[in-house]
Amino acid sequence: MKTTGGTDAQKRRAATAAVEAVEDGMVVGLGTGSTTAFAIRAIGDLVADGLDVRGVPTSFAARELARECGIPLADLDEVDAIDLAIDGADQVATTDGALVKGGGAAHAREKVVDAFADRFLVVADPSKTAETLSHPVPVEVLPSARSTVAAAVSALGGDPTLRRAEKKDGPVVTDNGNLVLDCEFGTIDDPDALATSLSRTPGTVEHGLFVGLAETVYVGTDDGVDVIEP
Ligand code: A5P
Repeated sequence: MKTTGGTDAQKRRAATAAVEAVEDGMVVGLGTGSTTAFAIRAIGDLVADGLDVRGVPTSFAARELARECGIPLADLDEVDAIDLAIDGADQVATTDGALVKGGGAAHAREKVVDAFADRFLVVADPSKTAETLSHPVPVEVLPSARSTVAAAVSALGGDPTLRRAEKKDGPVVTDNGNLVLDCEFGTIDDPDALATSLSRTPGTVEHGLFVGLAETVYVGTDDGVDVIEP
């Protein structure tokens, strides 16, 4: 359930602005997705020039790219703190910085890393911004709980769809071995309340609503970067 629309130049501008916050000696959370990929590559370039950082990847894909870029890596349980996390989003509420994430099915690990970080910087392009969230919310579920969580989502007024794989028959299986329900709720007027309800549903591993976590959102445009500080 990827949101498309931004250009590579917009994504690169957002990523470059966020990477300016990376300093020598930091532990950096490395998000997942096409926008964060520009940030990972930029950090790799800085490492090649002598920057001393360690990255904590949020997914198989982020780990693979960071390795390719020569960024020294650590697992989450090997670090005492994360100074900064840089991650993308599928939708950003410009009013309060609430996010929908999980288009790449990586939101469970992303949320652990992004929430643990002292500072969480979001990188996005203008196609991701909205006054109010309305993007379908990905919900990672235990495979055995697929139907019970789907019923709970329906009871909350949502319309759940099992995410299907491309180039494989059957569902998307996350890095954690679980399934994803993309849940259409229409306009989400109270993301915090919906987040609480989804978190309370047994069988939910993690949902893609990130409320109150983003410190700064960098939106790359055609000629610069808009900075949102919720
Ligand atoms: C991964 O599961 C997502 O949370 C991504 O961070 C999100 O989909 C943004 O990806 P893009 O930068 O590719 O749009």
